[in-house]
Amino acid sequence: MEFKKNILCIGAGYVGGPTMAAIALKCPELRVEIVDINAERIRQWNSGDIPIFEPGLAEIVNQVRGKNLFFSTEIAEGIKKADIIFVSVNTPTKTFGEGAGMASDLQHWENTAHAIVAHSQGDKIIVEKSTLPVRTAEAMERILKARRGGIRFEVLSNPEFLAEGSAVMDLLEPDRVLIGAHRTPEGLAAEKELVDIYAHWIPREKIITTNLWSAELSKLVANAFLAQRISSVNAISALCEKADADISEIAYAIGSDSRIGSKFLNASIGFGGSCFQKDILNLVYICKSYGLTEVADYWELVVKMNEYQKRRFVQGIVRAMFNTIAGKKIALFGFAFKANTGDTRESPAFQVTRDLLEEHAYVAITDPQALGNAKQDLQGTNGRVSYESDPYKAAEDAYAIAVITEWEEYRHLDFERIYRSMKKPAFIFDGRNILDHGKLYEIGFNVYPIGKKALTHFE
Ligand code: UDX
Ligand code: ADP
Repeated sequence: MEFKKNILCIGAGYVGGPTMAAIALKCPELRVEIVDINAERIRQWNSGDIPIFEPGLAEIVNQVRGKNLFFSTEIAEGIKKADIIFVSVNTPTKTFGEGAGMASDLQHWENTAHAIVAHSQGDKIIVEKSTLPVRTAEAMERILKARRGGIRFEVLSNPEFLAEGSAVMDLLEPDRVLIGAHRTPEGLAAEKELVDIYAHWIPREKIITTNLWSAELSKLVANAFLAQRISSVNAISALCEKADADISEIAYAIGSDSRIGSKFLNASIGFGGSCFQKDILNLVYICKSYGLTEVADYWELVVKMNEYQKRRFVQGIVRAMFNTIAGKKIALFGFAFKANTGDTRESPAFQVTRDLLEEHAYVAITDPQALGNAKQDLQGTNGRVSYESDPYKAAEDAYAIAVITEWEEYRHLDFERIYRSMKKPAFIFDGRNILDHGKLYEIGFNVYPIGKKALTHFE
């Protein structure tokens, strides 16, 4: 079949995979290819067992793979053929050198830019999909323009707003799509090409077009605002525990104000995921580099509050369990950074596990999707960690359960059975407030929610 255009995506990860699958599904006249340097990942995408767990994604991939969606490691060939190239390589926080712990590590992204320059034989549109520091497009342009020979690259920013676990819905029915372009005739022409792709399934009024820098910065700001809501509600959860107020009641009461809105007000052990912390630190780094110290400090507090909340959770466990958990088994229910994903990047579970081990506890981890990643994350930790796919087994002989991830199935467990199998007095620390606390208390547990009064059988 003759395709109208060739789309290439560099980076077959959490962003590139689902986004390209959606484009291939909705635009059968386009040939969509995803390339990656990681041959094993590409092999998985081409197998019956795709490398990421995302509800609804495998079905879409099965429908379009081999028709107009292709996975390969032929990066140079892919670049040659492509009319539009999406760049969705990973840009983690730097762990070394200038800006370590804050700035983005752009080496993968820069390698991609050089590969594009080296292998292009005609004009192309380059679309930034990876989360990048603001004004990265400028650096991309500089690298691309270093190439002589009259080839024209037009760089667009099309930040990704999909959330893991709901990526398919977020792609098929997004609140909005954002496309940033230079406000020049060439920039606007490239912008129109990308708008036309999304307009296959997204109403035109939901496709927002802006200048390039606004689009790049909007992504950081959107994540910073969302994370700020969680840190705000978590800060108040600490106060609730002292003041006998209830964070769920407060979240409902304030969220009913349409100016505030009800979403993203669930108190928790803290936010995780590959984006929130990275994007805020990026924002902080940029502000600092422009000398905007107060602005940088303001946003950095969102991350500090998150660290505090994670620390506070483990401190609460130790305090409740008579100031010692040395030698006690604690079952962690969930390791993923949120439900419906196997992703553990920046999961609060990691810090919680580390802190529990520091207190010399034994940690039994259970999770329906994330055990593989958990084992990798905790490689090198001492032998006091065990992994159990069955939550009932994880809880056997444990002194306490700590709920880390809000998996729906945890709500429906037989807690009477679990209680019988545990050491007494048995504790539950519900880091997500998903369980029926009154019922657990009646069964015999000492229950410690987040931002609510603890229910204990002690005098
Ligand atoms: C986020 C943004 O939502 C998305 O738009 C962006 O493209 C990428 O970053 P994601 O990291 O997949 O998506 O998950 P999200 O649902 O935003 O949750 C982030 C973290 O916040 C999770 O650890 C979650 O458990 C936590 N959270 C979320 C809370 O603690 N309370 C809430 O009320 C909501
Ligand atoms: P994200 O959550 O941003 O999608 P992932 O880590 O899931 O991040 O995916 C990024 C992908 O980009 C990885 O599969 C990685 O192998 C790939 N990648 C990194 N650098 C390059 C490169 N230079 N060329 C092609 N693929 C790359």
